Amino acid sequence: MSGLLYFPKLRTTMVDSTSLLALTLGFLIFALTMKRKETMKTVSMSSYIRNLPLPPGPKPWPLIGSLPEIFRINKPVFRWIHSLMEELDTDIACIRLANTHVIPVTSPRIAREILKKQDSIFATRPLTMGTEYCSRGYLTIAVEPQGEQWKKMRKVVASHVTSQKSFNLMLEKRTEEADNLVRHINNLCVKNRGDGNAFAIIDLRRVVRQYSGNVARKMMFGIRHFGKGSGDGSGPGLEEIEHVNSLFTVVAHLYAFALSDYVPWLRFLDLEGHEKVVSSAMRNVSKYNDPFVDERLMQWRNGKMKEPQDFLDMFIMAKDSDGKPALSDEEIKAQVTELMLATVDNPSNAAEWAMAEMINKPRIMQKAVEEIDRVVGKDRFVLESDLPNLNYVKACVKEAFRLHPVAPFNLPHMSTSDAVVDGYFIPKGSHVLISRMGIGRNPNVWDKPLKFDPERHLGNNESVELNDPDLNLISFSTGRRGCMGANIGSAMAYMLLARLIQGFTWSSMPGEGKIDISESKCDLFMAKPLHAVATPRFAEEKE
Ligand code: HEM
Repeated sequence: MSGLLYFPKLRTTMVDSTSLLALTLGFLIFALTMKRKETMKTVSMSSYIRNLPLPPGPKPWPLIGSLPEIFRINKPVFRWIHSLMEELDTDIACIRLANTHVIPVTSPRIAREILKKQDSIFATRPLTMGTEYCSRGYLTIAVEPQGEQWKKMRKVVASHVTSQKSFNLMLEKRTEEADNLVRHINNLCVKNRGDGNAFAIIDLRRVVRQYSGNVARKMMFGIRHFGKGSGDGSGPGLEEIEHVNSLFTVVAHLYAFALSDYVPWLRFLDLEGHEKVVSSAMRNVSKYNDPFVDERLMQWRNGKMKEPQDFLDMFIMAKDSDGKPALSDEEIKAQVTELMLATVDNPSNAAEWAMAEMINKPRIMQKAVEEIDRVVGKDRFVLESDLPNLNYVKACVKEAFRLHPVAPFNLPHMSTSDAVVDGYFIPKGSHVLISRMGIGRNPNVWDKPLKFDPERHLGNNESVELNDPDLNLISFSTGRRGCMGANIGSAMAYMLLARLIQGFTWSSMPGEGKIDISESKCDLFMAKPLHAVATPRFAEEKE
């Protein structure tokens, strides 16, 4: 059909049938020759690509690749990969695990080549046991391979949840939880007062994680607590503690190394025990989320709900092009959970590390507090509208993201065809792991990379933003699979740190001296949950 369309201007009355046949044959021969040349070009291109070397890496065993090393080493897989890359002095490596080529990357330049220049080739995700559980069989966005379901869910979330309009609509809810954070710590200090000054030892890990859980629940469901909460309602009840702990457990296992992700027929053995842990944590999350979603669906169907109040309502109200509900009940439940998973871990981890580093470096803490006092004054608490003027505080948050990312790697990307990256052959189906830890601590990118130094982000006079599209640190990443909640995530992380340091003076525990800022061996959290002494900076709670 397309061949004939190329002759629209031929006046057939002037051309006899022999010439027409000759012309058609001529065209067919021409088209076939071109196609053959094209095919030959593709074949020779693909054989050229396949002749390029793979990135450096350990010599794999036949069939099983480097799986034996993983079982032999006495450290977490991510630490083994990073030390291997250091030994090989490379920013890109190739580790074959059974049939899968795993490609870790620790330089911004190569990350840009993958996530910007060749984004279309690397925009899908591998399937893992953990992701199957957390997405209810791949109904969501973040862990979904590229395809129609991913596109549909991304469209609904982009237009109803992470749009600027929804972000503005949820401002009040985020502010309520920032207020609640200060109120909760203040109440703990006052309760502890006795005859002297108000102060308290605060389990900061619990507090910052609960803040993130509260904001997630408030934006999603319009509530802070599933039950009664604790004390005056500012603290978490057992339900919220279980909810947030379970979300963290799921996040930790989404892409944790499991043999069955590379040798699927071994899944029934559940060698690492991950399946048991993830399925149980997901049951806990669903135990709280699902009845809430069911009840709300009923309220809309009974006509009791009229105006959307939160993200859940927006999911329920979303319509497809025929005016029918865009999402099934199951898709709503799956997406609600995924957005909670996406919201809880990054802001809380950054705040915990930033607080530990800043308590140990009083000069940095003082500069941040002075900035808040200068910009906001002492008569009210920091609001999101102050953030454009709080560059130093934002730089502290950004520095915590650089030096202490919540996870060693970005979510994995998978190649949908053979490719060349940094001159190396990357076979179709490779799992690309851009290292958040490796890039953030790369000595060729950052001067004295292990030093917590917020000033390094204040070089030019521009506003400091957590997002780094040049990928000199991986906060929200970029490209087709880039984070959809950068506005919400940034606001939460900035407000959390700003309110903690504006509301209270912090010091290490009595007798502790400096806070122990060792990193856990198994992951990138602080080895010991941060505890510190808080003293309210203001006599009366501010409105
Ligand atoms: C500070 C907080 C956050 C950080 C640092 C963060 C970071 C990231 C990163 C690194 C990715 C993977 C990008 C890639 O694969 O290249 C991602 C994906 C995603 N994030 Fe976030 N995120 C945050 C908060 C949020 C929030 C609050 C939401 C929504 C409410 C959200 C929604 C998503 C979604 C839906 C994806 C999957 C995108 C896709 O695969 O197509 N994130 N995020």
